[in-house]
Amino acid sequence: MKLTLEEQDMLDGKYGNATQKSVEILITLGDIFDADGMVDVHGVQIAGVSYANLGEAGLEFLSEMAEDGKVRVLTTLNPAGMDRENWQALGIDEEFAKNQNRAIDAFAKMGIITTCSCTPYLIGNSPHYGQHIAWAESSAVCYANSVIGARTNREGGPSALASAITGKTPKYGYHLDENRHGEVLVKVNAAVNGTDEFGVLGKIIGDKLVELGKKIPYIEGIPEATIEELKSFCASVATYGGTALFHMEGITPEYNKYPKPVDISFEISQSDLNKTRSELIDDDLEIDFVSIGCPHASIYEIERIASLLKGKKVKKEFWITTARPTKRIADEAGYSKIIEEAGAKFAADTCCVVAPIKGRFKGIMVDSAKACYYGRAKNQFKVKIGPIKECVEEAIK
Ligand code: F3S
Repeated sequence: MKLTLEEQDMLDGKYGNATQKSVEILITLGDIFDADGMVDVHGVQIAGVSYANLGEAGLEFLSEMAEDGKVRVLTTLNPAGMDRENWQALGIDEEFAKNQNRAIDAFAKMGIITTCSCTPYLIGNSPHYGQHIAWAESSAVCYANSVIGARTNREGGPSALASAITGKTPKYGYHLDENRHGEVLVKVNAAVNGTDEFGVLGKIIGDKLVELGKKIPYIEGIPEATIEELKSFCASVATYGGTALFHMEGITPEYNKYPKPVDISFEISQSDLNKTRSELIDDDLEIDFVSIGCPHASIYEIERIASLLKGKKVKKEFWITTARPTKRIADEAGYSKIIEEAGAKFAADTCCVVAPIKGRFKGIMVDSAKACYYGRAKNQFKVKIGPIKECVEEAIK
């Protein structure tokens, strides 16, 4: 890989140990993927933040990097294992909280903004069209590439941190035009509405892509979509299909930049949506937990939940998972008061998947197909998907 003078200096240790180690990680990655050089990144998002994922080995690596490492670009974190301010109310164990804070402190020491969110694009870590970034959370990577038209591969925890410390990433994969073409034409012949239904659509497309061995769908037949619907779709298609980029005709910015795929195509009907929805509702379901905010809830979603909860009381554990800055806006707008008076809880900085709650509940209701996947696979809950309104109704019934 060709290095600039500055990158060579990094490799020679002129900027300290953490920078040297970081550039070594990036060179190894670049060599594996045949990159001929690096590209400057505009921002970074780091995943693998929960102490449950990091463990002591991960924490040791972070502490070592934090000895002399400082980030060069705006960097935020993916959700951690707990709400940093409200962990006790969410039933998080004290020992876990102590270890989670040790990890966050190591990130903070490197100059990372310790906002823990999978929707960095909603809270100011927002690239523009065409900008190169190094993000790690799969749903956010898919959103950045597809909805914004920024460019990122799906980074692992160490490579994202290495990019933050050097301000660079190897130029391969989705950083290059030639890898951003649609591969499969998807024709949607059904009306798709709401975060839950966009999640169902993401599962259908993701499952089909896996079957076809393809990654980038070109989707036609969706006349409009909100930010919330797109973030749900991104989370789902990334979960079920490993998709990091899609084009949606008339909606995403690069849909007409490359030739439309013609060789492979499939159609999606209303009955496909209904069938897949039923796959996301388990039999013998006893719901004792409701969670909205996968990916992290926007202020629009919180406002909606507040209006549905006004004057009511929840009877089940009900979490709204969101980014801390979004929660602060909800506080100022008075939405948090309404929600908390109803007995629902904010779980900022975390979510129902990364928090250590395995086995704590029997059944979860969500509006997210991604949360259904991990609710089953990671936390061993039974699951039900439904629109936000039905989730709120379930919590209060
Ligand atoms: Fe975000 Fe957690 Fe869902 S990280 S995408 S809320 S699984």
